[in-house]
Amino acid sequence: MPDTHRDAKTATLSFGDKTLELPMLTPTAGPDVIDIRKLYSQGGVFTYDPGFTSTASCDSTITYIDGDKGELLHRGYPIDQLAEKSHFLEVCYLLLYGDLPTADQLEDFESRVTSHTMLHEQMQYFFRGFRRDAHPMATMVGVVGAMSAFYHDSTDIHDPWQREVATIRLIAKMPTIAAWAYKYHIGQPFIYPRNDLDYAANFLHMCFAVPAETYNVNPIIARAMDRIFTLHADHEQNASTSTVRLASSSGANPFACIAAGIACLWGPAHGGANQACLEMLREIGSPNRIPEFIERAKDKDDPFRLMGFGHRVYKNFDPRARVMKQSADEVLELLGIENNPTLQVAKELEAIALKDDYFVEKKLYPNVDFYSGIILDAIGFPTSMFTPIFALARTVGWVSQWKEMIADPQLKIGRPRQLYVGATSRDYVDVENR
Ligand code: SDX
Repeated sequence: MPDTHRDAKTATLSFGDKTLELPMLTPTAGPDVIDIRKLYSQGGVFTYDPGFTSTASCDSTITYIDGDKGELLHRGYPIDQLAEKSHFLEVCYLLLYGDLPTADQLEDFESRVTSHTMLHEQMQYFFRGFRRDAHPMATMVGVVGAMSAFYHDSTDIHDPWQREVATIRLIAKMPTIAAWAYKYHIGQPFIYPRNDLDYAANFLHMCFAVPAETYNVNPIIARAMDRIFTLHADHEQNASTSTVRLASSSGANPFACIAAGIACLWGPAHGGANQACLEMLREIGSPNRIPEFIERAKDKDDPFRLMGFGHRVYKNFDPRARVMKQSADEVLELLGIENNPTLQVAKELEAIALKDDYFVEKKLYPNVDFYSGIILDAIGFPTSMFTPIFALARTVGWVSQWKEMIADPQLKIGRPRQLYVGATSRDYVDVENR
């Protein structure tokens, strides 16, 4: 923690016969932070915050979210400006190195990524160990974790050069891994990366080309794909990023830590929501069934939630959802399917939900997952590929946060405590006496 953020202000905490003065830390943006690192040693008590709703796990300079304003900044740059004016590999550079690159820096970075897109040829056989009907996320978790068995020369986290090589390998190879997980899933041959295509076009080519004929990537679709990558790149200390940080705090190698992040992202409350959202929109099927689903979402006794709605941090529109909605309109119009029934249901559902008292009072708005699936479906991806695409894009966020944490000289292993409510000490009872 740089001393520049240590404030003269303190927080006074009184309990029992104790009164503690806890230092306050001042952010460059967002709420002040009470530094409780010495609370247990000085006060003999823990804090309790199971979902980390009020807990800062680290300090970071990468991404800032203002949930009330619906603002998302990457190194200070608003996401809507980056989505409109930048492109994914430039955003990767920004997240990884802290500033927008010069033309020469960008060219060098893009050529390093491009020249690392192939996988070790032996890895093909790792894919073949899965059943064809394995969910591509299962394959990705396994293959990314296995990268530590293939790329030993970039697993020493204390070597800055090896950290940089692992960084480039992960960003460069995730599209190949995701595309090959898809190809294996549908029984088609793997398509090798092509260095003459840009990052998004190369991914689309690896997913949709077949050896039997030439496949030309539609540049408008490639631009939409690139923008989807940008919108998913990083998002502060979300569940999967926190998983990567916690795994990395033990000194585990970067490939194992990113595999842990992929596993966490898979959950329907997190990155799995894009698949769940499109499946929900299809189940709704037509606008006249929307009220039935809205009522289910409000019913405390029904576990159903409106997928793609709500957010731990955003209590306003997710700025990524705004850009995604605009992109959905553009892509579907371009493909001549602007009357796509699923898009119509989504728009009608959004309009009804945003007027409903339940959603208004609980500040539930569409999030990044609400419209993304509609675009991915229109491009030709099955719903099973939605979360792998999220994982592909979020890899740069996970790696950026990992680099930031590993470089922190004050790095400590993450080890939360608990509120223990189980049995107190008692003697063993032999089975004949139970
Ligand atoms: C992502 O953290 C990130 O940054 C994540 C992410 C990223 O980029 O990394 O933004 C990506 O994960 C987006 C979120 C995708 N998930 C979904 O769309 C699934 C549906 N949404 C919910 O499961 C929920 O909104 C969460 C998980 C996203 C947030 O849950 P919280 O913050 O723990 O809030 P909560 O569950 O305590 O909900 C508050 C209230 C509850 O009602 P009460 O108990 O107060 O009466 O709002 C209700 C919830 O029941 N609620 C919903 C709802 N979301 C919350 N009710 C119906 N439908 C919903 N979608």
